[in-house]
Amino acid sequence: MVQRTQLINRNRMLLELATYERMEDQVTMTEEELLEDGFGDTPFYHCFIAEIQGGTSSDDPKVVGFVMYYFTYDPWVGKQLYLEEFYVMGEYRGLGIGSELLRHLSDLAMKTRCTGMMFVVAENNEPSVQYYKRRGAEDLSQEEGWRLFRFDKDSLVKMGTPAEE
Ligand code: ACO
Repeated sequence: MVQRTQLINRNRMLLELATYERMEDQVTMTEEELLEDGFGDTPFYHCFIAEIQGGTSSDDPKVVGFVMYYFTYDPWVGKQLYLEEFYVMGEYRGLGIGSELLRHLSDLAMKTRCTGMMFVVAENNEPSVQYYKRRGAEDLSQEEGWRLFRFDKDSLVKMGTPAEE
């Protein structure tokens, strides 16, 4: 059971990751909305968190990293995991924590018969591009020419049924 303090830590790290990617001004979600979306009747995402034990056995474990993921579906090849967020706090990087989180995700993908794991990496995040490539990830933009699109909320409102007067 993920506890509230763990969620608060994870939400703090969500913001740290957005700051690392220089996109913190795009974060509009509140902690309450994240809680509702992840832990309501229909969870829209799932997480694994990485914790380390504090200095003494009586200290609470400290959350130092997390992955956020959900399931998507490709009609050609079936279930896919989608890795949305992946973050380990700066001072704990390079210790294998990220690899351990990816190991859990890979095991989950196999258990649930997923055929792959998709994710998007910012072009300027070269360390992560290399991190994923070293583990065998294919760069689909480069190799297959896919382009990432989005309709923002205004476009959706325009395309949708007009509100009644
Ligand atoms: N910092 C970072 N990497 C180091 C360091 C260090 N101080 N020292 C060594 N490394 C090397 C390791 O040797 C290792 O190399 P390898 O790829 O050959 O195994 C690698 O960097 C780190 O491997 P891990 O210890 O398994 O991973 P880590 O716990 O550092 O977590 C992560 C990896 C999550 C990418 C982390 O670096 C991070 O949080 N980066 C900033 C946020 C980020 O860019 N996240 C990914 C965004 S893309 C997305 O979310 C889909």
